[in-house]
Amino acid sequence: MAYVPKILAFAGSTRTDSFNKKLVRIAAEGARKAGAEVISIDLRDYPLPIYDGDLEQREGLPANARKLKDLFLAHQGLLISAPEYNSSISAVLKNTIDWVSRPVPGEPPLGCFVDKVAALMSASTGALGGLRGLVHIRAILGNIRVIVLPDQGAVPKAHEAFAPDSSLKDPQQQAAVEQLGRNLAQVLSLLAH
Ligand SMILES: Cc1cc2nc3c(=O)[nH]c(=O)nc-3n(C[C@H](O)[C@H](O)[C@H](O)COP(=O)(O)O)c2cc1C
Repeated sequence: MAYVPKILAFAGSTRTDSFNKKLVRIAAEGARKAGAEVISIDLRDYPLPIYDGDLEQREGLPANARKLKDLFLAHQGLLISAPEYNSSISAVLKNTIDWVSRPVPGEPPLGCFVDKVAALMSASTGALGGLRGLVHIRAILGNIRVIVLPDQGAVPKAHEAFAPDSSLKDPQQQAAVEQLGRNLAQVLSLLAH
């Protein structure tokens, strides 16, 4: 039976009208067209307290951290579209990574991240499209042993970039973001052989 790559897609923003939620949906569609099974989640559905070691010691992992861990463990690929906040990673994304990275008995260290493959993108209202934030996210994920694909996407002036149907107005930009998803699916398939 043909291998079907499994990809978890999400944005590093919880905002209802998030441009990054729109962007990651485009990449997810590209991955599906390349044969991947993609599950899209909204981090708003997995609210977590700010990581606190005392809380963890007292109460263990929050239920939503456990649910997110299970999702990460069940997928080989990560499609992440993340806004840049003050030139870096958004708090919700970092907090999610921090909770998901916590060890639990019976799970190998960093089991949610080691040898996963990620494709990154960003949409921002600024002129650089969130590129500076992606540098930090790439470093963080690389340090916890995620293979981050070299190609990435950045959509500047995001408030002007999307059509009412949530596609990108610029067809070349739309195709490039879809291609990020395709690339991820293809790399996962190659690694599986
Ligand atoms: C706290 C904060 C810091 C921000 N810092 C930056 C920044 O450094 N660079 C940038 O391009 N946009 C910055 N922005 C603007 C975001 O690009 C914009 O709010 C974007 O819409 C957020 O992504 P979302 O639409 O997916 O929620 C910032 C926004 C917030 C709320």
